Amino acid sequence: MRQGENKQNIRSQSEIDAQNAYAAQIRAENDRYEAETGVRRRAFVLTFGCQQNEADSETLAGMSRQMGYALTATPEDADLILVNTCAIREHAEKKALSIIGQYKHLKAKNPALLIGVCGCMVTQEHRRDEIKHRYPYVDFTFGTSSLFRLPELICTKLARGKRQFCPEEQKYLVAEGLPVHRESTYRAWVSVMYGCNNFCSYCIVPYVRGRERSRAPEAIVAEVRELIEKGYKDITLLGQNVNSYGKVLPETVDFADLLCEIDKIEGDYLLRFMTSHPKDASTKLIDVMASSRHIAHQFHLPMQSGSDEVLRVMNRRYDTKKYYGIVEYMREKMPDVTITSDIIVGFPGETEEDFEGTLEMLRRVKFDMLYSFIYSPRKGTPAAEMENQVPPEVKSARFDRLLALQNEIATEKNQPLVGKTLRVLCDGVSKNNEALYSGRTEGNKIAFFEGTPDDTGRYVTVQIDRADAFALYGKKHEKI
Ligand code: 5AD
Ligand code: SF4
Repeated sequence: MRQGENKQNIRSQSEIDAQNAYAAQIRAENDRYEAETGVRRRAFVLTFGCQQNEADSETLAGMSRQMGYALTATPEDADLILVNTCAIREHAEKKALSIIGQYKHLKAKNPALLIGVCGCMVTQEHRRDEIKHRYPYVDFTFGTSSLFRLPELICTKLARGKRQFCPEEQKYLVAEGLPVHRESTYRAWVSVMYGCNNFCSYCIVPYVRGRERSRAPEAIVAEVRELIEKGYKDITLLGQNVNSYGKVLPETVDFADLLCEIDKIEGDYLLRFMTSHPKDASTKLIDVMASSRHIAHQFHLPMQSGSDEVLRVMNRRYDTKKYYGIVEYMREKMPDVTITSDIIVGFPGETEEDFEGTLEMLRRVKFDMLYSFIYSPRKGTPAAEMENQVPPEVKSARFDRLLALQNEIATEKNQPLVGKTLRVLCDGVSKNNEALYSGRTEGNKIAFFEGTPDDTGRYVTVQIDRADAFALYGKKHEKI
């Protein structure tokens, strides 16, 4: 791996320093407020959408702390509310807009409250305008390219009193060195690349997250090393299409090379990554996984459809044969691999036969878990303009059939794990069943067991005695 900074992709240090100076001004004001009132101002960050957004929100939380805010889990006692939005489906946008609507009364109670809306939804001009006109109590908006400008936006709003609608940056660049406040002390997200060049015809991501850019390998390896030294046990490398990692870097490095470098770091941890595109999932990558010490035998490989014609119109640039070939190779090299996927039901023009093709692929591949979505037209994408949209009732009937089949498959897939003893990273008391603790296996399956508070963040061994489509249940043996 060649050393060297990847200059053309990276936001300059002077731009980051300028934001640090704004943050220091706000911090001084928040310190003064605390000295005067005895109360520290608080920030609340709400996140919609994918892991990339979760990771961005950890940066928003980090910047909030840098600006002298304490973090709070309740919007009612916040002085700063940041809503990090998603645009992938209409449902995500509607949910965010409805919650933003509910904050009107908080602003009425506390006129000094600052409300900012950011992320994918407001990167779209029509949504930014909607916020501007219909949500007058929102103080500022900023899109995915301007995340690093949060301190400047707050400073300008406070100094001028005027609402701020930050335009997108000329270029989507990587901003290194921003403060991050991680929610967990044992699981971490690490972005390796941002944006997407694929333009699948249904997808809004390339329009709201810009073109692909990769972080320099040295920066990623250093971040992961620091996390492992701090005791993190489960690290997920993130990117819209991790297999494109390195394509736009001056170094000759691909994702498999990056994984090899990270795998050399000593420690007791698992490395995961998402998301992979089947068109670029290489045998080299699978070989690296199979021979690694730390890469979990788990692969998320979105298939989207089991019809070659639908895949063609989706602009996915692979067919079902190619997809199945990757699955076969993966299972040959790692018989214990967990494979999960994304499926879209009701893409424009999807016929009954196309949909049957998807069901057939489900039966052949037997995914451990599936994230299934009803197609949602996204303004500005080619598929939204297609005339042969599938009627809503057909979409939802197909969706139900898909779920029913997948439930059968996942139940069947989980049965062989009954009787096995698995290592599980404990996440603490289960949110859905407070009598039990839950955690994740190497294959990222949820396991429930009777635990104790000090299991949280640690590996435990669980003997599985029952399994359904969604989870494993068992008895904890001992700490390891
Ligand atoms: N409608 C429904 N699902 C979508 N996805 C992306 N765009 C859309 C859309 N317009 C799904 C894809 C992708 C996952 C993150 O979201 O399956 O892999
Ligand atoms: Fe969207 Fe396709 Fe890019 Fe994934 S690869 S983010 S589905 S355009």
